[in-house]
Amino acid sequence: MSTYDNRVYLDHSATTPVDPRVLKAMLPYWSEVFGNTESSHYFGQEAAGALERARQTAADVLGCRLSEIVFTGSGTEADNLSLRGAAWAARSAGRGKHIITTPVEHHAVGRTTDQLRDRFGFSLTRVPVDRHGLVDPQVISEAIGTETILVSVVMGNNEIGTVQPMVQIGRICRERGVLFHTDAVQVPGKFPLKVDEMNVDMMALSAHKFYGPKGSGLLYVRRDKRLEPVMTGGEHERGHRPGTVNVAGAVGLATALRLAEDERREEYLRLHSLRDTLIEGILELVPDSRLTGHPKLRLPHHASFAFLGVEGESIVQGLDLEGIAASSGAACLEGEAESSFVLKAIGLPAEWGMGSVRLTLGRSNTEGDVARTLDVLPSIVARLRART
Ligand SMILES: Cc1ncc(COP(=O)(O)O)c(C=O)c1O
Repeated sequence: MSTYDNRVYLDHSATTPVDPRVLKAMLPYWSEVFGNTESSHYFGQEAAGALERARQTAADVLGCRLSEIVFTGSGTEADNLSLRGAAWAARSAGRGKHIITTPVEHHAVGRTTDQLRDRFGFSLTRVPVDRHGLVDPQVISEAIGTETILVSVVMGNNEIGTVQPMVQIGRICRERGVLFHTDAVQVPGKFPLKVDEMNVDMMALSAHKFYGPKGSGLLYVRRDKRLEPVMTGGEHERGHRPGTVNVAGAVGLATALRLAEDERREEYLRLHSLRDTLIEGILELVPDSRLTGHPKLRLPHHASFAFLGVEGESIVQGLDLEGIAASSGAACLEGEAESSFVLKAIGLPAEWGMGSVRLTLGRSNTEGDVARTLDVLPSIVARLRART
């Protein structure tokens, strides 16, 4: 059983604790090596050296060049800088104004593309997904027209865990001369992230999802792709992200990314097996329960469910009282539980969609944690159902 005062943490898609090895790597960069990377003196150059070593580590993991890495303040920021930057650059160059995305994106992409449509005159196509939340690359291909400049597809869905056919989508975009962006925030440590093999042009990551610090993100931008700066200021991060660089954050992200990649194969198998035990157990022990997202093409640590006729948030509260931390995908509007936009997009009926619960495993979890969850969840759901 994991420690955490005997509590079980099953919300690793929300955030993860900083790995002690990452913390150790970051520590010198708060008060010992504290210079501003833009300063030409010793202190500045010492910090700049650490930043470039972190960049090299990240570039090695992603299989890209140093100059293609931009350190940002979060995954959200990386999505914003790339989508807006690419759209604005296309507009300035007099290219097309059409963007293609999906209805199951994180708000960092969904609301950014909404704003590009509503405030900046871009046209937006949200290609449909199937009942598992999967995008058909052929449908993307058919949606691409002469005006299309950009396609954005989330690689691993945060809510339902579905993993998209990135290589095929990327290949289509490459052949048609359209930029391909992915939000891969949920993916490090789960699947390889070699940008050339994935055919991506821009990719967003966030350190706190893979045992790195919060407030530290990464944007990969392919070398020949121009982004218009979204924030204006100094020349930090080659002008893509002005503002004094968070060196400790960048070192933490790079160290965490390296560790996540080095331990990925072993951890994939371990989490996959725990996840399948959890999924099979819940579907067997809780009547009127369904898995949401794809049964096979999903993140190895991710189990998400819908329970008929109960509110997901009430289940989450019941689990919390039992010392188990989970999350519910449902949006709560004025006290009324409602299906999230993702569950609506996969066509889940509302009476199921309001009862969504996400359990996401991580390094701290053991078979004992899964057994404890399977022990308490069926009676929590039964009790809630008896009340209604
Ligand atoms: C798929 C996805 N994209 C983007 C984000 C935002 O990342 P950050 O918290 O670093 O802004 C998240 C966080 O939940 C996410 O799951």
